[in-house]
Amino acid sequence: MRRLGVNIDHVATLRNARGEYHPNPLDAAKFVKKIGADSITIHLREDRRHINDYDAKKICSVKGLAVNLEISTNKEIVKKALNIKPNYICIVPENRKEITTEGGLDLIKNKKIIKEIIFKFKKKKIRTSLFINPSINDVKISKELSTDCVEIHTGKIANLIKSKKRYLNEFNKIKKCSVLAKKMGIEVHAGHGLDYKTTKILTKINHIKEFNIGHFIIGESVFFGLKKIIHNFKKIIR
Ligand code: PXP
Repeated sequence: MRRLGVNIDHVATLRNARGEYHPNPLDAAKFVKKIGADSITIHLREDRRHINDYDAKKICSVKGLAVNLEISTNKEIVKKALNIKPNYICIVPENRKEITTEGGLDLIKNKKIIKEIIFKFKKKKIRTSLFINPSINDVKISKELSTDCVEIHTGKIANLIKSKKRYLNEFNKIKKCSVLAKKMGIEVHAGHGLDYKTTKILTKINHIKEFNIGHFIIGESVFFGLKKIIHNFKKIIR
């Protein structure tokens, strides 16, 4: 069975826009699990632009909730994550000026530090994943680094599909990487920029075991949630 991981960072983005407490990411995490998500993802960014340390600690302490914590290779963040003890970690590149994670890790440049980080988390029995570009070489390096999983960056294929451009080349790259990773004993995940259509297309690759989706789920839920909330207010003020 394929799994769905729901990234709830943007619940925190919305809360932070007001600087108050609502909507609460902890409630969102519990709710998302209750309605069927297989895991939830949060990204503790160095600039704390959405999820903060308190959120991460609270969310990771909920019993029975599978939490995938995205982290950069920053020493302070790694230390925090080891302390928070999520079920899973996914190492991602981070650049202060980016709006969202823009690509996979530079595994050649960061090989040594990533290897050390993976070792630390594996010692604590925390599942490790690397956010990589769909590159055969990166899959091979991932194997050398002994990661449990790789998450293939799907931002490029998502953009091609959304702008109605040819995407077959990119699709084949993702497929080849997924096949190789699975053959090497690495579990394959996919994420970034996914919506209904792009996800459907990627389900043709059987080797992908987990999809991690955030922005579209939170954005789309605005439309599907509005009806009920407006209804409630009409009842209250009637
Ligand atoms: N996977 C990883 C590793 C990410 O960094 C992100 C974005 O935070 C996602 C998945 C989710 O991407 P999106 O919000 O575009 O669905």
